[in-house]
Amino acid sequence: MIKIKLLNNIKTLSIICNQYGDTGKGKFSDYFSSWAHVIARGTGGDNAGHTVVVDGKQKIFHLLPAGITYDGDGKVNILGNGMVINLEVLCQELDELEKDGFTYNNLMISKDAHVVMPYHIGSDFRDVSQKEGGIGTTGRGIGPCYTDKIARRGVRIFDLLNKDTLVKKIKEASEFYSQQSINVEDIVYRLTKYTDRIRPFIKDTIFEMHEFIKQNKKILVEGAQGLLLSIEYGTYPYVTSSDSSINGTACGVGISAKSIDLVLGIIKFPYMSRVGAGLFPTELGGGLSEDYCANQKHTKEYELSKYGIPYKEEGEKLIYDHKDSRIFGLIGSIEPFSKGVGIRLAGGEYGATTGRPRRIGWTDALAAKYAIKINSPIKLILTKADVLCGAREFNVCYYYEKGVRQIVDFDKDNLRNIKPIYKRYDGYSDISEERNYEKLPLSLRNAINDFVHFTDCEVVIVSVGQEKDQTIIV
Ligand code: IMP
Repeated sequence: MIKIKLLNNIKTLSIICNQYGDTGKGKFSDYFSSWAHVIARGTGGDNAGHTVVVDGKQKIFHLLPAGITYDGDGKVNILGNGMVINLEVLCQELDELEKDGFTYNNLMISKDAHVVMPYHIGSDFRDVSQKEGGIGTTGRGIGPCYTDKIARRGVRIFDLLNKDTLVKKIKEASEFYSQQSINVEDIVYRLTKYTDRIRPFIKDTIFEMHEFIKQNKKILVEGAQGLLLSIEYGTYPYVTSSDSSINGTACGVGISAKSIDLVLGIIKFPYMSRVGAGLFPTELGGGLSEDYCANQKHTKEYELSKYGIPYKEEGEKLIYDHKDSRIFGLIGSIEPFSKGVGIRLAGGEYGATTGRPRRIGWTDALAAKYAIKINSPIKLILTKADVLCGAREFNVCYYYEKGVRQIVDFDKDNLRNIKPIYKRYDGYSDISEERNYEKLPLSLRNAINDFVHFTDCEVVIVSVGQEKDQTIIV
């Protein structure tokens, strides 16, 4: 179990991303799960992908909290009331756990969470393609499921327990989704099979959460996606359909944001990424990169082959040396698009859910400051600083041209062509073995100091690799 000063007197802790997701929450959910008794997730569905490394093996969870691998230690994992759950995916994740020898006896699934139905996935397709003006969604039916929730015609986990209600709801839906041919019997048959499997875990998790708080249990509330993708605060309409801020995350597990003692905000630094369409002022290669990443052909395999980087296939995974000299060459390139490709390959920046290449750019301190303001009070974890080793220099954006004050300005036209103003720093060599903050390269510490002053926020952890021990407590 981790023991760090930061956690003294803390009972409820939350981990929230302050960018566009994919900042390495999985590693820290896993890291802090060893401290917690209860790990709860409150927003989104299998659009998310948390990557955790257990015994040197990488695992990706889309629905289950990262703490599920601690079930054997009696830790409770909760899928909260604010989530939207695809039961087929959930059961697949349970199968995977069993295969790897993990248990899930203490799992709790909120009776109030909503169920992602096949017709939700069917109607998400128009938004998958970024090319035709879509949002570039993950295609997992998340938006349509939340739409039905708000329209008060959604199917809750609770509804699965009553077959008549379920049949009635799906019949109603088949009228609403009349452009799809919905086979009510087939859907009911499949859902019944999954329901039988998850029945023992269905609970009133709002009640349970408050019991855990009363019992002084240590609780980890795990965020999903990132603040800039929040339906409330993000770069609308290019956002997900839930509120990924601390407010929405707390709401999604049935507690008040005020009852969270410590919010740890994750920021990828000094580069960041975005998947899907939408504003990204600091993107390396700008529109060229956005169009390139929207093309489904540009997979990890495509990029490895194109840039001559040796790799081998292990199941569905492509294994390659992230520190290959050709990748360093790309990162060192003076040409922004190629630099972005290099960082993507070095950081393994491909969607954990869709495999799409993530768009890469410099960390945007102005956007971070906005996100931090919404999630405050907050302390920061900076992640993936090791990925940039080999770059001759790097930039951090502190201002935009034309007096644009923040990433979600009311003047959308102003935002479309917004130009970032950077501060430049010298590059640095490998830091993945460093464990002492004072020994990090001066240019990186200078950049962190500037970032801390600009955002008026304390950095408490710097992550220098995906393994748990590659963590520097500041
Ligand atoms: P949806 O959540 O599938 O509806 O997708 C809406 C937008 O959020 C798209 O731009 C997605 O790429 C993005 N998105 C959703 N989930 C994640 C995530 O876990 N990481 C990063 N981006 C995400």
